[in-house]
Amino acid sequence: MRHLIDITDLTVEEIDQLIATAEDILENPVKYQDVAAHKQLATLFFEPSTRTRLSFESAMLSLGGSVLGFSSASSSSTAKGETVTDTIRTVGNYVDIIAMRHPKEGAPYAASLRSPVPIINAGDGGHNHPTQTLTDLLTIHRERGSLANFTIGFCGDLKFGRTVHSLVNALSRYTGIRFIFISPEELKMPAYINESLKRKGLSYEETESLEDAMPQLDVLYMTRVQKERFFNEADYIRLKDIYVLDPAKLQNAKKEMCILHPLPRVNEIAVAVDDDPRARYFEQVRNGKFIRMALIMKLLDLKV
Ligand code: CP
Repeated sequence: MRHLIDITDLTVEEIDQLIATAEDILENPVKYQDVAAHKQLATLFFEPSTRTRLSFESAMLSLGGSVLGFSSASSSSTAKGETVTDTIRTVGNYVDIIAMRHPKEGAPYAASLRSPVPIINAGDGGHNHPTQTLTDLLTIHRERGSLANFTIGFCGDLKFGRTVHSLVNALSRYTGIRFIFISPEELKMPAYINESLKRKGLSYEETESLEDAMPQLDVLYMTRVQKERFFNEADYIRLKDIYVLDPAKLQNAKKEMCILHPLPRVNEIAVAVDDDPRARYFEQVRNGKFIRMALIMKLLDLKV
């Protein structure tokens, strides 16, 4: 039985195959509409979500399957003190596959050790978010035609931003990727990510200046400052608006640069940027449903 806890649970060949399947689903949705008939997905979200939970549910419904679950820990028996493992062992009796989000790093991995059905990590604390990474990879592939040979700038909260950690990990397995990490000192990329790049012989640059990095970028990956992971509210208030992408800052950007953001955004991208053809974050949202359809098919070994 396969789980998806970390993006490295998938080989590069498997990721490329998922992208190819998602692109086929986008072109031929009718072909896939009954693939998961009589299969059930549980979405167990112990932490808030809009895109991830609803795109998983939309994905399963579009494959002809059905969904059940909860959208907050407070509406489950977690509120009575039940452990994650007991919850998973229970829900595993009702469904064929589980997508779960949890505020504690490692909770989906712990769940997978005792789960009778495949577990998909839909985000664990400040650690990983592998299905957002698949979404990001599909979007970059659709925008650029390939996942090789480009410069990507990650901007904002690189310390707590789990989507950033997973995407750097994934892109480090493709060729010719140049990484520029744009953040204040307090929100720098964790040392373990930088060390893993060094171990692979890959280099990265760090800067506090979005303006300096901008002309070099083929992809700009903006992130939200993760209020929920701060211990000190004063620090959050001081840092929350440190980067705000607006039309003026894009004047030095490449004409074909692609702007991504996992969303939700707060202030870090001005609404005026949304009409710029380089803004691709709502296409990214759309792609998330189709790559999750491909992933559900893979983990359940479903064929058209
Ligand atoms: N990108 C993402 O994980 O969004 P949600 O928190 O809305 O699921």
